[in-house]
Amino acid sequence: MWKKFLGKFNKGLGIDLGSCNTLIYQQDRGIVIVESSVVAVNNRTDQILAIGDEARRMLGKTPPHIIATKPLEYGIISDFEVTEKMLKYFLNKVRSGRFFFPAMPKIIVGVPLDVTAVEKKAVEDVLLSAGASEVFLVENILATAIGARIPIQDATGNMVVSLGGGLTEVAVISLNGIVNWKVSRVAGLALDQDIINFAREEFNLILGEMVAEDIKKKIGSAITLKEHLEMPMRGRDVLTGLPKEVKVDDVGIREAINHSLEKILNTIKATLETTPPELVADIYQKGIYLTGGSAQLKGIDKFISDNIKIPVHITDDPSTCAVRGMGVLLDDEILLKDIVVSAA
Ligand SMILES: Nc1ncnc2c1ncn2[C@@H]1O[C@H](COP(=O)(O)OP(=O)(O)OP(=O)(O)O)[C@@H](O)[C@H]1O
Ligand SMILES: [Mg+2]
Repeated sequence: MWKKFLGKFNKGLGIDLGSCNTLIYQQDRGIVIVESSVVAVNNRTDQILAIGDEARRMLGKTPPHIIATKPLEYGIISDFEVTEKMLKYFLNKVRSGRFFFPAMPKIIVGVPLDVTAVEKKAVEDVLLSAGASEVFLVENILATAIGARIPIQDATGNMVVSLGGGLTEVAVISLNGIVNWKVSRVAGLALDQDIINFAREEFNLILGEMVAEDIKKKIGSAITLKEHLEMPMRGRDVLTGLPKEVKVDDVGIREAINHSLEKILNTIKATLETTPPELVADIYQKGIYLTGGSAQLKGIDKFISDNIKIPVHITDDPSTCAVRGMGVLLDDEILLKDIVVSAA
């Protein structure tokens, strides 16, 4: 009775701990945190200077003794201590918005498909030490499918492709289970790196990560566009060391990222090739569901459907599907029990 009473106030949380962004969903409230997974630390004093979007704005702009780091790489924790500090900060932020919040809640957190036992344990441990009372691990891609309201409980094949920052995850889901999957480390961040390499090779221009990402979002595309897009690309000249600006257009950026887009395509093809034929037939009929932040790259849906001759649907609000799926799971204990991954 007492537990039930406390439970009324102690809302569960869902956390999508991504290579680029961390999102938190609070039961009965919805999405309460959308922040960059970045932490700025002063190396001399070991002090944390900024966390989240504020730290991200410091990327590439810090003096030598300050480093802005991403504590997650390819969807897994690469720096345990910094991840813990980042999570504590976000969890406090969620708490401070509440009038009454007696204890730390149960937390559902997503993991990638290729996660190892050690990495799963690290995610569980980091959340327990950040204050969770109970931790439930779920595969990010299943949470994404649930958030996108794809009928994964049916006995039909559903292909979900998540294009994130560090990872491309492809899964075929049927009866709430993953029948076949592939993961590639070519995703949004790889596209930014392609643009950095292109600027250096073509123009002797050194670009910052944020500049490259901005160019990708504004004029990057996977197919020829109806309109011609161009913008200035600002960086430092390799030879003179001075600031330099050149004009770049959608054609140049498309060439720069094409190789990585082919790799993403091959990951999808390879998954289809190893999927049982009955399920492939379903996928042909229903199409592929595309999600994750990089699903917003212009023309990416058409690029995939033109190449593999299967319709592609971009899910609504593709960046938040995973955390919204965790929100559904917070209210559906039976489904959570069915899909939870053991941390051992
Ligand atoms: N409009 C856009 N066009 C192209 N790419 C975009 C756009 N908006 C966001 N992105 C890219 O989406 C990526 C972030 O997506 P998302 O938040 O799903 O990743 P993540 O969950 O943090 O990473 P991962 O799941 O791979 O660990 C970034 O690489 C970002 O540049
Ligand atoms: Mg993600």
